[in-house]
Amino acid sequence: MEIAECRPQDVEVLERFMPSTSVDGRHAARFARQEAGESSYLVPWIDGTPVGHAEVRWTGGRAPEVRAAHPDCPEINGLLVWPESVRSLGVGTALIHAAEELALRRGIGLMGLGVGEDNARAAALYARLGYMPTLVYLDPRAHVDAEGVLHEYAERCRFLVKKLR
Ligand SMILES: CC(C)(COP(=O)(O)OP(=O)(O)OC[C@H]1O[C@@H](n2cnc3c(N)ncnc32)[C@H](O)[C@@H]1OP(=O)(O)O)[C@@H](O)C(=O)NCCC(=O)NCCS
Repeated sequence: MEIAECRPQDVEVLERFMPSTSVDGRHAARFARQEAGESSYLVPWIDGTPVGHAEVRWTGGRAPEVRAAHPDCPEINGLLVWPESVRSLGVGTALIHAAEELALRRGIGLMGLGVGEDNARAAALYARLGYMPTLVYLDPRAHVDAEGVLHEYAERCRFLVKKLR
């Protein structure tokens, strides 16, 4: 398995293997933010196939409440390992470590991420990796369904922070 920043030609491949559903999380939107210097869009590959993604947002948390509480903390967003058959093999951990490594190389000593309050397994993973709970917030979400209808809602999440050094 290798992890690399998304390249222009990867956007279409990602869309084919992991079709975008959320508006803010479209692969093209994430790649555009990387091109603008706002984030790094990390993609793990196994045998030439993408098996997930994580966007490291250098501009801070996507939710305004998170940015206000942790103004200097980048956020790992859109963390996914897919398909389910490749979960629990260490890919998610490797993505988080790659994000932390990038932060340290930029001289940033903090990393954060949000987890849904009902996502106990993911929360257990982040706790094992040293992420400490901070504020509870409402994460604004929007996705377009198969009929093209936009659904907007908010998920109750907890923001977690890790000191990297
Ligand atoms: C959470 C996720 C990114 C972890 O990636 P991963 O490659 O499975 O993680 P690792 O192999 O490094 O670590 C495995 C741990 O991840 C956690 N985990 C969370 N959700 C999981 C899932 N659906 N399947 C497997 N592991 C999961 C568990 O703590 C697991 O440990 P366990 O196998 O002892 O229960 C991945 O499982 C996933 O994409 N889940 C669905 C989407 C999601 O919940 N994203 C996180 C949003 S905050």
